[in-house]
Amino acid sequence: MGMIVTIDGPAGAGKSSIARDVAKELGFAFLDTGAMYRAITWGAMQAGIELSDVVKLVDYAEHARLAWHDDRIDLDGEDISIAIRTPQVTANIRHVADPPEIRGCLTRQQRRIAEGRDLVTEGRDQGTEVFPDAQCKVFLTASPQERARRRQLQLQAAGREVTLNEVLVAQNQRDLEDRMRPVGRLRAASDAVVIQTDAMEAEQVKDAVLDAVRSCM
Ligand code: C5P
Repeated sequence: MGMIVTIDGPAGAGKSSIARDVAKELGFAFLDTGAMYRAITWGAMQAGIELSDVVKLVDYAEHARLAWHDDRIDLDGEDISIAIRTPQVTANIRHVADPPEIRGCLTRQQRRIAEGRDLVTEGRDQGTEVFPDAQCKVFLTASPQERARRRQLQLQAAGREVTLNEVLVAQNQRDLEDRMRPVGRLRAASDAVVIQTDAMEAEQVKDAVLDAVRSCM
């Protein structure tokens, strides 16, 4: 059996880039589970599936073929890495992330991906629901203001002008949805190392996560 490292936390805590770097440094595989929820949301929207129809969504999620190639994610053979990051997808994710039946389907897929591998997996419920026995669990967090500030910088770098308040309002809404869902809600596992990153540079966060992982090895 491989070693599982889970990295959970709220939107904008820098999980993806840190988890990716940590996986590279350790020589582990990397799984971005938010991208799975995004891919199913995008695919269902493209397929014209009514997003309130849980039965159809589960059927869709069961049969969708997801594949990863480094930073790229494909759905049924199509590169959707950029398409899944649009605000329209983000606004609709709750339809896919809320129903326990769909979470169950994605949880099974995530466990299958982890089989026999050393894996760094990143999301909201990895240390709590999907891999409760993971050898190392990290919860990365930062204050809402700091997360919004970082997100605004990212958006500006991508050529999108948004005010800090606009980012904060959207982020608060997502935090609320992520914290309130009945199954798989955002929370730190009781045995997770919690890292508060407000006053840290990305490099320091990476080192702190690597220290946490090495202390579990
Ligand atoms: O991490 P990212 O922002 O890409 O995740 C998008 C959304 O997918 C989250 O806001 C959350 O609603 C959902 N998600 C989830 N469980 C995960 C990962 C993401 O419910 N393990």
